[in-house]
Amino acid sequence: MKEADVEEGRRKIDWAREHTPILENVRERYLDEKPLDGKVVGMAMHVEAKTAVLAELLAEGGAEVAITGCNPLSTHDDVSAALDANDGVHSYAERGVDRDEYYDALDAVIEHEPDVTVDDGADLIFRIHEEYPEMVDNIVGGCEETTTGVHRLRAMDEDDALRYPVFAVNDTPMKRQFDNVHGTGESSLSSIAMTTNLLFAGKTVVVGGYGHCGRGVAKKADGLGANVVVTEVDPRLALEAHMEGYEVAPMNEAAAEADFIITTTGNRDVVTRDDFEKMNDGVVLANAGHFDVEINLEDLSDYATNEREVRDGIREYETPDGRRINVLAEGRLVNLATPVSLGHPAEVMDQSFGVQALCVERVIEAEGDFGAGVHEVPDDIDRRVAEIKLDALGVEIDELSEEQREYMSSWQHGT
Ligand code: NAI
Repeated sequence: MKEADVEEGRRKIDWAREHTPILENVRERYLDEKPLDGKVVGMAMHVEAKTAVLAELLAEGGAEVAITGCNPLSTHDDVSAALDANDGVHSYAERGVDRDEYYDALDAVIEHEPDVTVDDGADLIFRIHEEYPEMVDNIVGGCEETTTGVHRLRAMDEDDALRYPVFAVNDTPMKRQFDNVHGTGESSLSSIAMTTNLLFAGKTVVVGGYGHCGRGVAKKADGLGANVVVTEVDPRLALEAHMEGYEVAPMNEAAAEADFIITTTGNRDVVTRDDFEKMNDGVVLANAGHFDVEINLEDLSDYATNEREVRDGIREYETPDGRRINVLAEGRLVNLATPVSLGHPAEVMDQSFGVQALCVERVIEAEGDFGAGVHEVPDDIDRRVAEIKLDALGVEIDELSEEQREYMSSWQHGT
């Protein structure tokens, strides 16, 4: 592992810990009950401060934790080093690894023989199924954090290739309606602003995809005074964006107006050569989807006559007619992969990781009860995380009376 400032990593983790009351609440019980005692949890996630809080929490619950990154650029080396300094936590994550090093680190995690896997993008699960099939029988279950990972796992499940139960943490309301929407919205725009030092107000921001992440990015950009244009392939979501007051257009038209293009689709080739040909000089391209395939960088490299690093995290491509197209973070998750990226705000990851921790506990507790395949997060877990959060915020809500409960469950009431 690289030399890194363990103290600085520790300070970052401690700060995140102070802003994650759900994880703190779970920690108090874990220290007492040790529900993960004797189990090994293998993790492949963005190794930064909030993830470190989750990893330490699982260790405090009694688990041995082995962790690596789920993206070559999103690790904070100081946080990784501080995590590794804990008893019972082994971190193999490093920033800036190449493909072989990335997979070597996944293998190092797998060599700990996990009972439970926690993924962001499903690379760990795939690696185990492909390269270590003999280990599958010992794994009681897994948890998947993001939309793209859940898509891959559902495809695997449909082909009867997924051999242990996995909770689709991404799909539960306490994760998706907050992390994907508010987390991606705020952190993508702040990463772009910090990396470029440019203004959004009065600019045209094109948002590729109006799903959970896209609507968050669109709303926050609108709030900053940008003129937002949305591109979609789903007619219902396109209509929703239209009725929210955004311009809706195909990418090839939108690209010609853009000052910024931010992709959030989880799909490939959302921005391609036809679009590069029409873009304004100085346009900034960023991707917030899981993989670096949304902006076709091969197309762009072929089309460009020159390319250079103009600022940390910004690669400028010069077109044959002298325009400049700027790509942030090599087309990887912009909120996590630029040199200044911090990922989602701590309060939002508190919710996602609260669900993760309780799902790890549940899958261990239920050993064998869930069959192989993708499972929804049990509703009691999602509600519990919401209750803890409201409590931490000091927000009270009403409760259903017996009469209301009976009314809501009856079909006999009419006019
Ligand atoms: P979603 O399924 O809610 O939204 C994706 C949208 O993109 C859909 O509405 C779909 O119709 C649209 N779309 C697909 N192909 C398109 C195309 N060619 N052009 C225009 N629109 C297209 O998914 P969600 O939850 O918003 O996630 C999107 C991506 O972001 C995934 O890769 C996910 O893993 C990732 N993600 C990234 C986060 C981050 O920290 N940056 C956090 C959470 C998710």
